[in-house]
Amino acid sequence: MKPPTVLITGGTSGIGKATATHFAHAGYPVVITARDAARGRATAAQISARTSNPQVRYLVGELGTIKGCQALVALILEEVPDLQLLINNAGVFMTKRVLNADGLETNFMVNYLAPFILSTGLVELLARNAPSRILTVNTGLHLQGHFDLARTPCGLDFSGRASYCNTKLANALFTVEQAGRVRHRGITVNAMSPGLYNTRVLKVTGWLRVAVRVGGAGLGLVQPLARSGKAPFYLATAPELAAVTGAYFDQQKLAAFAPQAADAQLRKELWDRTLGWI
Ligand SMILES: NC(=O)c1ccc[n+]([C@@H]2O[C@H](COP(=O)([O-])OP(=O)(O)OC[C@H]3O[C@@H](n4cnc5c(N)ncnc54)[C@H](OP(=O)(O)O)[C@@H]3O)[C@@H](O)[C@H]2O)c1
Repeated sequence: MKPPTVLITGGTSGIGKATATHFAHAGYPVVITARDAARGRATAAQISARTSNPQVRYLVGELGTIKGCQALVALILEEVPDLQLLINNAGVFMTKRVLNADGLETNFMVNYLAPFILSTGLVELLARNAPSRILTVNTGLHLQGHFDLARTPCGLDFSGRASYCNTKLANALFTVEQAGRVRHRGITVNAMSPGLYNTRVLKVTGWLRVAVRVGGAGLGLVQPLARSGKAPFYLATAPELAAVTGAYFDQQKLAAFAPQAADAQLRKELWDRTLGWI
């Protein structure tokens, strides 16, 4: 039987690229998204050559604006009609408050709103191709998040690390809410923490970066990047997880979402407000 087609956002570097490579090694048809065509083409070609899998391609998509996300949804509907596995991996950790053309703060846009627009925009396609899975790369830091529906979207409460945590918490609430809404459509919706890797998201530079790489690796905290594709691959493909939905995994291990994710009223409020923004 032909393996299902997987699409991974932010496949040009870090965990996304490692995950795409893992899938390609296993013989899956792989689509990565890239915001730059030349990087997308080069990365897809490199993964394809490395894994001897000719079925690796890229789509260009900008997740930093609402229009960009909607355009990517339209492109996927046209170009990937057999999509069954959606991995929302792209993410940012902003050190400054940067607003996009929609007036939305960048962490909020890329870490929360982009997965929302993609996951909801592709529901009909995924339901048609069911069984399907949506997996979002979140972080254990969402447990430290607090968000304010009035202030977080525009970053009025911006504060580097806290904003990253807050937007990932919003993403956690969304995961649980969407899982409930598509439960009977043959689509599972889960989130995961990938572990710690020395990528741009880790946001350390200079000597600190060297210290994290050496010290973190020595302590077993920072893992080799090539390993980062293993857990997303497992969560998106394991037969024993076919019916597991609305769940959070710490790498491959079932874990608990932040307690706010159990608040159905808050989840609905966030969902309804989000529909108003897009
Ligand atoms: N690294 C860790 O230790 C760690 C820990 C917990 C969670 N995570 C999560 O893992 C995910 C992947 O991060 P990473 O560590 O692999 O970081 P990374 O190497 O910086 O990769 C991030 C990916 O997202 C893409 N991206 C960022 N902004 C985008 C935009 N506006 N439009 C389209 N694509 C965009 C990047 O594209 P470009 O290449 O074009 O910039 C890149 O492909 C993120 O969701 C992150 O929050 C990472």
